[in-house]
Amino acid sequence: MLKVIELLRNVSIFETLSDEVLEDLARRTKTQEYSAGSIVVYKDDPGDAIFFVSAGKLKAVLAGENGREIVLSSFREGDFFGEMSLLDGQPRSATVIALENSTLVILKRRDFVSHITSFPQTAINILTEMSLRLRKADDVIGNLALLDVYNRLCNQLSEIAEHDGEEVENGVLIPERPTHQELASMIGASRETVSRALGNFQRQNLIAIEGKSLILLPKFFSKMPKRS
Ligand code: CMP
Repeated sequence: MLKVIELLRNVSIFETLSDEVLEDLARRTKTQEYSAGSIVVYKDDPGDAIFFVSAGKLKAVLAGENGREIVLSSFREGDFFGEMSLLDGQPRSATVIALENSTLVILKRRDFVSHITSFPQTAINILTEMSLRLRKADDVIGNLALLDVYNRLCNQLSEIAEHDGEEVENGVLIPERPTHQELASMIGASRETVSRALGNFQRQNLIAIEGKSLILLPKFFSKMPKRS
């Protein structure tokens, strides 16, 4: 029980909740391990549970045309997913796949409803995060409609740098850069176009690629299109 409370404390939307709330939640959850590559929820399956990520990394995807994958979001320690089916009772809106071995804390609808009857703040925190996600989805829709692939790629790289980047002497380092295919899935472009754009960015000294890492160079930030 103590371990689960500690796990829940890592979840960003629970940071501000009291021990009493976390204890009540912990009593109602179960913890499950998923190995890298396993599918946690399938799009269109019925679902009645929300998942809190205690460790690991996962992604929510849709299958696009010709087997192409569209990445909607990624989740890591402190994030949650599965709230959509939990709340509206509709089938899962996307497939969620573990990218690394992951530990998930699972809460079923029945237990969620009993919990929020006594502790409504938990629901408010989930709604706040859902609102942030909707804003992000609005940005993505705006970018798809208004920005060309090069600018979308710039936006995506700066978003990754904001989350995972480290300031270094000559710019901002992304230690584990996504593959060209992964970047393509994130911005709704083909792998070939992303490879071409990255080559172009390198030639213009906007970025430097070194092994698995990528550095956004000072010129990148002066040329960056304004983020919406
Ligand atoms: P659910 O539909 O229950 O199962 C799939 C989950 O993927 C969904 O809940 C959300 O948690 C998550 N998801 C789907 N679309 C998005 C999105 N656009 N941004 C972030 N997460 C999403």
